[in-house]
Amino acid sequence: MRMVDLIEKKRDGGSLSKEEIEFIVSGYTDGSIPDYQMSAFLMSTFFQDMSDEEITHLTLAMAHSGDMIDLASIDGVKVDKHSTGGVGDTTTIVLAPLVAAVGVPVAKMSGRGLGHTGGTIDKLESIPNFKVEIPSDDFIRLVNDTKVAVTGQSADLAPADKKMYALRDVTATVNSIPLIASSIMSKKIASGADAIVLDVTTGDGAFMKNIDDAKRLAHTMVRIGKLAGRQTMAVISNMSEPLGNAIGNSLEVIEAIEMLKGTGPKDLEELVYTLGSQMVVLAKKAETLEEARALLEEALHSGKALDKFREMIINQGGDPSVIDDYTKFGEAKYVYEVPAKQAGFVSDIQAESIGVAAMMLGAGRKTKEESIDYTVGLILNKKVGAEVTEGDSLVTVYSNTENVEEVIQKIYDSITIGDSAEEPKLIHGIVTE
Ligand code: URA
Ligand code: CA
Repeated sequence: MRMVDLIEKKRDGGSLSKEEIEFIVSGYTDGSIPDYQMSAFLMSTFFQDMSDEEITHLTLAMAHSGDMIDLASIDGVKVDKHSTGGVGDTTTIVLAPLVAAVGVPVAKMSGRGLGHTGGTIDKLESIPNFKVEIPSDDFIRLVNDTKVAVTGQSADLAPADKKMYALRDVTATVNSIPLIASSIMSKKIASGADAIVLDVTTGDGAFMKNIDDAKRLAHTMVRIGKLAGRQTMAVISNMSEPLGNAIGNSLEVIEAIEMLKGTGPKDLEELVYTLGSQMVVLAKKAETLEEARALLEEALHSGKALDKFREMIINQGGDPSVIDDYTKFGEAKYVYEVPAKQAGFVSDIQAESIGVAAMMLGAGRKTKEESIDYTVGLILNKKVGAEVTEGDSLVTVYSNTENVEEVIQKIYDSITIGDSAEEPKLIHGIVTE
């Protein structure tokens, strides 16, 4: 087989076989296929698309390029949840203990943040001494004994994806449905879950800027998950404004704790219950979504979910006193308010540029090598739909430098105040096939 022939076949709109796709993925991973040929192949795929069969072969070849995690020794149906990306998305930190509190085993592997999006692993590391690297035997024992553990991805999880994603990033081929779907699903399949709940985000802060594209991506991922033998479903959610009020690492953990105490922001709460109910049903702990939701509400309002989070922090070496005393996270040196310059209604908060503003404060990293500042970030005091009078604080800025003019300008540029506004719809649909 020659790579040049396969590039030509895809360029001209042909379909590649399982063997051909495996040849490309293994050749690129072991270095026998160079970057320039892979770039041409990725660009051909960008323009010609792939069938569900091709995407499934690609996904499985990428999943098998490294470790395949075996969770078989954990009792019960292991359900993973994955978001395609957003700003201020704290759902995993709420869902992991909440779903575990109703008896669903949560063996969660999460990533770090890059650019305008944050990562669950960074957020959890803002808890003093919390360990995100857990040896795999301990990880499995923790989930068996306590139902929940959250760890960073093993270095050898889908190495083909790592290499391809880096190449896509510099060849303008990130935004392709077959390539995004295979990238995400290869990691989910290699992580060993029996069932997968996807949160496919749409809007300014997401890869998919409109609902139709988000639905196409969701249908594609659901179909390849099923073809790969994993129960898979997707929720299409709004990410045109950031989720919840907090953006920044310890600020988002505090938001998650507030949610577990029953006082979280409404949009976060709705997304948590929507995703959580699906997870509970897939794990066969409830027959219907209504029954699942009732179990989750009971776990939250009784304090069981918060107790589970406390237990999870202790198990992973962290200081659980942060739950009762937020100053234990450490505090940013400076706090600034960003007042509304006019009265009206907040009609738009651009998620991506708010995410960039938080990154500029040090809450996120521009490159993989940068370190982050856990204490800084933003609190949105007015979400889309809110009425404001002149001088009301739109956003509170937590910073470790006094030099925040650029950040404040970026915040003003991100927020539109108009004459009227509707509260946005959070859930745009559920995709099961
Ligand atoms: N997230 C991924 O892991 N891969 C993509 O291609 C896009 C988002
Ligand atoms: Ca948030």
